[in-house]
This record gives sequence, C-alpha cells and structure tokens, in this order.
Amino acid sequence: MIKAIKGTKDIFYDEIPKWKLLENIVRSVMEKFHYSEIRTPVFEETSLFSRSIGTDTDIVSKEMYTFTDRSGISLTLKPEMTASVMRAVIEHSLNKKFNLNKLYYISPMFRQERPQAGRLRQFHQFGAEAVGSRSPLLDAEMIIIAYNILKKLGLKNLIIKINSLGVPSSRETYKKELRKYLTPKYEQLSPESQKRFENNILRILDSKNEIDQQIIAGAPILLDQLDENSLIHFEKVKKILDDLKIPYKIDPKLVRGLDYYTNTTFEISSSSVGAQSALVGGGRYDLLVEQLGGKSTPGVGFAAGIERILLACQNENLFDFSPNPIDLYVIVLEKQLSPTAFKFAAQFRLKGLITEIDYLDRSVKAQMRDANRLNAKYVLMIGGEEFKRGNVVLKNMSTSEQKEVNFSRIENIISLLQNKSF
Ligand code: HAM
Repeated sequence: MIKAIKGTKDIFYDEIPKWKLLENIVRSVMEKFHYSEIRTPVFEETSLFSRSIGTDTDIVSKEMYTFTDRSGISLTLKPEMTASVMRAVIEHSLNKKFNLNKLYYISPMFRQERPQAGRLRQFHQFGAEAVGSRSPLLDAEMIIIAYNILKKLGLKNLIIKINSLGVPSSRETYKKELRKYLTPKYEQLSPESQKRFENNILRILDSKNEIDQQIIAGAPILLDQLDENSLIHFEKVKKILDDLKIPYKIDPKLVRGLDYYTNTTFEISSSSVGAQSALVGGGRYDLLVEQLGGKSTPGVGFAAGIERILLACQNENLFDFSPNPIDLYVIVLEKQLSPTAFKFAAQFRLKGLITEIDYLDRSVKAQMRDANRLNAKYVLMIGGEEFKRGNVVLKNMSTSEQKEVNFSRIENIISLLQNKSF
C-alpha cells in the first residue's frame, strides 16, 4: 500500500471548511490593508535559500528538500517564502517600478523536520512582505495584521513577543560579549548549543534545554548593545503598538531561526497548542535584497503556520461546522428516467441550486434516505402518472408539503425554490 509521506497530510471534507474560513479571513484582512497577492513556484535554485536564510541555520543545514534535476541544477522545495518573494521582486524590478510593494501569500512550504503535532514536512503558511520602506509603521503593521487575523478566528490565548536584533555591527559586538560569557560555561552547554557556539552563537539564546536556559538567564542582553538608530526604531514600533493597545512582551532572547533579520523581530505564540507554540514569526530584513544582488531595499514581513493555527482553533473549540444542506435532490421513480433527472439537475445547478441526484441506481426508498442524509431542503420526484401528465412532484422536506408542478417551464420550479414560496 502506498501511503502519504511522513509529515504530510491529506485534507478533505471534514477539514476543508476550516481552511476556507481561515483563507477567507486572511484574504479579506490583507486586502483591507491593501496587500496584493503573490504566487511563486514551489521550487527555486538552492543558492537562493542558502544565501538568504543562512548556511548555518537549521533550515539550510539540515531541513531542506534539495535535489539535482536532470540538467544538473541544484533545486530546493521552498522552506519559506521571504527569499522567493525577494527573488521575484528583484527579478521583475518591482523595487524599481514602485517605491513600496505590499505583498501577501498563502502557500505550501517544505522542511524535513521530525514530524510531531504542529510540525510537518509539508505545511502551509500565509504571510506578508512590505518591501521598500524603513518606516516603523510597517513593523507594527505586520504584527497588527497577523494579530487581527488570529483574533478574527476567535483565538484567545495569544502572546506577542518582540525584540530588536539591531544592525550587524552591534550584533557582532554582542556576539563577542556572549562568547566571552559562555566560554567558561561551554562544558555545561547541551551538545546542540555547543555546536551553535561555533557557528550560530545567537541561537543558543533560543535553546529549550533546561541547563542552557539557566546559563542563558545570566547572559548579557542584546537590547543593551543596540546602536542609537536601532534603539529609536524599536521605541517607535513599541509606541505604535502601545497607542493601538496591542498587548506585547519584550523578549530580549527572541533571535529567530533565519539569518536575514535586522532590527525588529517578533513572534506570536499560543498557549493552546503544545510544544510547537509559535503560530507567527517575522521581522525586518533591511539588507536582504542587497544581499541577493538587488538594489538596496529595506523590507519587513511575517509568516504564519496554518496547521498550527487550526490546531489552536480546534483546541479552543472554535469550530462548529455542520455540513451545508443541499437545495434539491432529484429522485427518479423509474430507472429509465435517470438521464432526464440528470438533465434537470444540470439546469438547476446552472441556475445556482446545490443539487444532487442518484448515481447508484438505488430504490426510491434509498434515494429518499440519501436526500434526508444530505439534509436536502426540497426533493423533486420524476416519474409515475404525474410525469405522464407533464408534471413532477416537489416536496418541501421541512414541512412535508407536496406540490405537483409542470416541468415544461423549469424556471417556475426554480423560482418556487429560490423564493421559498412553497
Ligand atoms: P518561520 O518562523 O520559520 O518564519 O515560520 C513561520 C511559521 O511557520 C512558524 O511560526 C510556524 O507557525 C510555521 N512553521 C514553520 N515550520 C513549520 C513546520 N515544520 N510545520 C508546521 N508549521 C511550521 C519564516 O518562515 C519567515 N519567512 C517569516 C518571515 C516573513 N519573516 C519575514 N517575513
């Protein structure tokens, strides 16, 4: 038996309504903030991700789905969207055509992580990127958009954390201080953190290991080392959020797992899901476009994990979907009338009525049972003496009232049903 790949999921009728609800909210909020949609290919040249996310990050060093195609090019299924969006912005000179590009996306992503609740190998993100402005308004806007979407879904147990990573020069100074602090404690660090000590020391701050956390508690703080401009920028972002009464916490240890960030970083997590509690992650990346060979253009954005958000919604009992009732079920009393039922159904469907018929040659009784199961509002019966007279029988399933109607003018039947006048 061929099965789906570990860490991937089939999504069907019991879950599709939840996805649609979320996607509709995302689209409607994004459009109110005047973001336009961007869709990019699922794979890109591998170097796009190593150059942007960073070779020493977990994503690039061990989680990417990378393969060589028949022409020998190294390709990677996108593990995140920011790099792809920046590639598209540069390639199509969007940053030269418009001073500011505000873009949003809903797309599958791929990371070879150890599957567990809230952590998949193919997962889906929605997100936004605003490219072209250094304004702190946009840093705040990203948090506000993401928070609004989560709130519109009805989520309650949300925590917003923000931090600033400053600019590379102040970060380098900080890294030196951190190294000085951690060097005498190196032996006590977890093996994972010892590895990070060499190539990505900031990420030690992110460690979930208990002993690491005790050590980190006494570590110097990056926010204390920020350069003047980064500090002013951070203060402005906080002020905008304060004015709008967006609740947030400052987390000086929020370093994020991608290398392209400068200044603001943020995460929104939920206490309603397990260990994988981060629903949203984002931040500013003023150097990324330049790093990818484009004209220097600042940017800021976020991405949110759809599966994790739906899990949080489920755990907060936010969904109560009953299947949509159908408008009409066309029942045939005689098997040879099946093509006529099919033709009628086609006309009703084209006029906008959700219509079902029997495709399994079932008895009249079984067709009626099916109509009940599907919560049909009306049933139309074709056959018998009525049919010979040029009529069909229409039954209102909630009142059980029946009516004989002439079928030569199908519009009459449709208007009866649409106006619910019977
Ligand atoms: P990220 O923090 O790597 O950021 O991912 C954002 C969100 O995607 C996470 O908070 C989580 O909800 C979801 N996610 C990540 N990995 C998985 C997984 N294996 N399974 C399920 N959900 C997952 C980014 O991707 C950046 N591109 C965000 C960004 C946009 N920064 C600036 N612009």
